[in-house]
Amino acid sequence: MSNPSVTAVILAAGKGTRMHSDKPKVLQTLLNEPMLHYVYAALKPVLDTALTVVGHGAEMVEAAFPDKKDGFVVQAEQLGTGHALQVAWDAVKASGAEYCMVINGDTPLVTSEALSRLADVAGCCDLAFLTITPKDPASFGRVVRDEDRRITAIVEAKDYDINEHGPVTGEVNAGLYLLRVATIEPLLDELRNENASGEYYVTDLVGLAVSRGLRVDGVQCGDDLSLMGINSPRELAAAESALRRGIVYDLLDKGVLIHNPETVIIGPEVNVEPGAEIFGHCEIYGRSTVKRGARLGSYTYITDGVFEPGCDVRQFCHIEGAHVGPGAWVGPYARLRPGAVLKEGARVGNFVEMKKAVLGEGSKASHLTYLGDTEVGAGANIGAGTITCNYDGKNKFKTVIGDGAFIGSNTALVAPVTVGRNALVGAGSTITKDVPDEGAGIARGKQVNIKRRLKKSD
Ligand code: UD1
Ligand code: CA
Repeated sequence: MSNPSVTAVILAAGKGTRMHSDKPKVLQTLLNEPMLHYVYAALKPVLDTALTVVGHGAEMVEAAFPDKKDGFVVQAEQLGTGHALQVAWDAVKASGAEYCMVINGDTPLVTSEALSRLADVAGCCDLAFLTITPKDPASFGRVVRDEDRRITAIVEAKDYDINEHGPVTGEVNAGLYLLRVATIEPLLDELRNENASGEYYVTDLVGLAVSRGLRVDGVQCGDDLSLMGINSPRELAAAESALRRGIVYDLLDKGVLIHNPETVIIGPEVNVEPGAEIFGHCEIYGRSTVKRGARLGSYTYITDGVFEPGCDVRQFCHIEGAHVGPGAWVGPYARLRPGAVLKEGARVGNFVEMKKAVLGEGSKASHLTYLGDTEVGAGANIGAGTITCNYDGKNKFKTVIGDGAFIGSNTALVAPVTVGRNALVGAGSTITKDVPDEGAGIARGKQVNIKRRLKKSD
């Protein structure tokens, strides 16, 4: 018999009041990636379809995940987790799946293993959910069992009454459920909001299912911290530091050399090869790749950078969307902005900024320079204080510097302009016309020496 089909619904419409932020909670970041990114990543190997219920800041959430654009359902008013599911139900039915997995979008540390455990019970029950027994049950929904340990309900912390529900067991609801579409559907209309929050709770489906004689299972996950929901800045910080540690120590185990690992922050999508060397403090985010033999010095901040073998990034660099070629040197104190490319053995020194600029093989810009919208060939030398004037206040223009060219210090290259192969530009020039191959361009006021007038007393 083939496995029953399962579709997922991620609940992400809530405001996250306890975050005190205008940003929807599921867009709060851990290691520079939004919470929801982690839920999608964990789900990917398990299920290929997911609907996301959005509401508070819906446009922001949709804009953050353009590749999911057909998978959003809007819950205009956030009347509770049960209401969020009601809003998504038509789309769940349209998917034709036999089961629906419901996932709280504020559980970013959830693992693919936990989601698989839940998916695996499809076929055996009408409703299953993951339970945990954390040290501090905090505001989690309490799992209630009868004297035979059979689940009878989930009762929210605010609604829990010892006299009515008995002493707490310590077992709580992790906020991940699996529902059989055909048997749970009639219960959706029976949800009521007569509770401490005045909301429609998805958790009430448990008690309703039990009372109808449906099969309900609690999949116990012990004290699995990865299933903690995030409701406050403090919980977000705790989850982020657990995640950071996990990534860094995993890389150490794989053979990445990390100095001072407690001060190294690496995002979940960063690819670091064994044999790369990283010095803390540093932050590496986005879709960065650090290859074997690349070296990243301390106090660097990197997003979407690619570092080839043998390259050396010295301390205090800021690098975004740049490609550092094999054996290239960067910094200390360099800034590489999107589109900066250093070919093999190229060098960029202190206080050099590059944007949409290519520095050819073995070329150097060692000090105090701005290269924007520029192409520099191989073996060129860009003197200290060279500025490409790429912007006239309206448009951007390109500068081309040929192989082997030598740009003297304190030169302004007013784009569009080309300095030819093996050409030279005299120090202090403002170059507005092309310099031919092997030519020498000098554009500065002629020096005049006259006799100095001295005061008598001198
Ligand atoms: C929920 C569970 C609780 C469980 C805990 C696990 C309910 C009633 N309670 O509590 O039993 O222990 O998660 O973390 O479900 N959301 C919507 N629409 C809404 C309200 C919420 O989409 O109208 C989304 C939120 O964006 C969030 C998720 O549902 O991602 C959970 O909502 P939240 O308010 O955080 O529920 P908890 O109080 O944490
Ligand atoms: Ca929550």
